[in-house]
Amino acid sequence: MELQVNDWISLKTLEPLDDEALFLETDKSRNHLRKWLPWLDGIQNVSDSRQFIEYSIQLHDQRKAMIFGIFADGQLAGTISFNQIDWQNRIGHIGYWLSSTYTGQGIMTEAVRRLVNYGFDDLALNRMEIRCATENNKSRHIPERLGFTEEGQVREGEWLYDHFVDHAIYGMLSRDWADK
Ligand SMILES: CC(C)(COP(=O)(O)OP(=O)(O)OC[C@H]1O[C@@H](n2cnc3c(N)ncnc32)[C@H](O)[C@@H]1OP(=O)(O)O)[C@@H](O)C(=O)NCCC(=O)NCCS
Repeated sequence: MELQVNDWISLKTLEPLDDEALFLETDKSRNHLRKWLPWLDGIQNVSDSRQFIEYSIQLHDQRKAMIFGIFADGQLAGTISFNQIDWQNRIGHIGYWLSSTYTGQGIMTEAVRRLVNYGFDDLALNRMEIRCATENNKSRHIPERLGFTEEGQVREGEWLYDHFVDHAIYGMLSRDWADK
């Protein structure tokens, strides 16, 4: 499945043949990603990335989650996902990362805008949620730029290797997005 973002960025569901590119981008950006994401130590070789892709295909088939590769000029630049889709309450929980080669160009803001449009228009979701560590300013700028509301903070909401971080919760409702 593919969602076109603009003339040079697209979101494509990851396939097993993306395993090498996914591992290379992850490994190259390990330090930058490890600061904010909890799973880096579990990705040590291409086969770990392949297992992740296979698991993400299962989740997609079960409609529990949707994980897309972000492709910029055809190259894998990172991922964006509905980490969880709560169908009962029609909520999409969004997560994302970019390889350090691709940051600072507005790629993720446009990718999130596309995923939110897809979630509201095609999946009939009602609410999008993004949680960022309070000190992760680069990540917080994304929902802020897109007009999400900061709804509150959760103390010690996530364990990152050797410490807890607080989370800021951002929400967007379908009716407010439609106004934009
Ligand atoms: C979070 C993360 C994806 C943000 O990446 P990013 O490159 O800052 O985000 P975007 O692709 O939307 O780019 C926006 C930045 O590019 C700048 N930019 C430069 N040229 C631009 C252009 N042509 N259009 C738009 N923005 C541009 C913007 O000013 C902005 O920088 P700022 O936040 O300092 O204002 C990235 O830092 C990352 O992967 N971090 C590690 C993993 C992580 O934290 N994940 C989120 C967990 S909640």
